[in-house]
Amino acid sequence: MALVRACALRELAAESALSVEVGRDDVAVVRSGDRIYAIADECSHAAIPLSEGDVGDGEIECYLHGSRFDLTTGQPLGLPATEPVAVYRVEVEGDDVYVDLDARPDAPTN
Ligand code: FES
Repeated sequence: MALVRACALRELAAESALSVEVGRDDVAVVRSGDRIYAIADECSHAAIPLSEGDVGDGEIECYLHGSRFDLTTGQPLGLPATEPVAVYRVEVEGDDVYVDLDARPDAPTN
């Protein structure tokens, strides 16, 4: 398990995303409702940072063409994106938000 500290919980405003470099990955750490999510910070349609999009109801919207992504599954909820983006398991301990780099779908298994 590769839990890496991503940011402080207090840095995440309600219904917002923060772009964080975690290890070698660009991750959007997102607060929506009472949950914290982590999702690859790159739209699957083009190389646009998802962290700059609007957040709401467990979804994030790409600002360029408007595809929305489910923050739990990474699946696109509307065109033009058709491919999912990677999601990461998140742990919150006190004011620290950790991202599990081994929990992303493309992590090597051994
Ligand atoms: S770049 Fe994100 S929907 Fe087109």
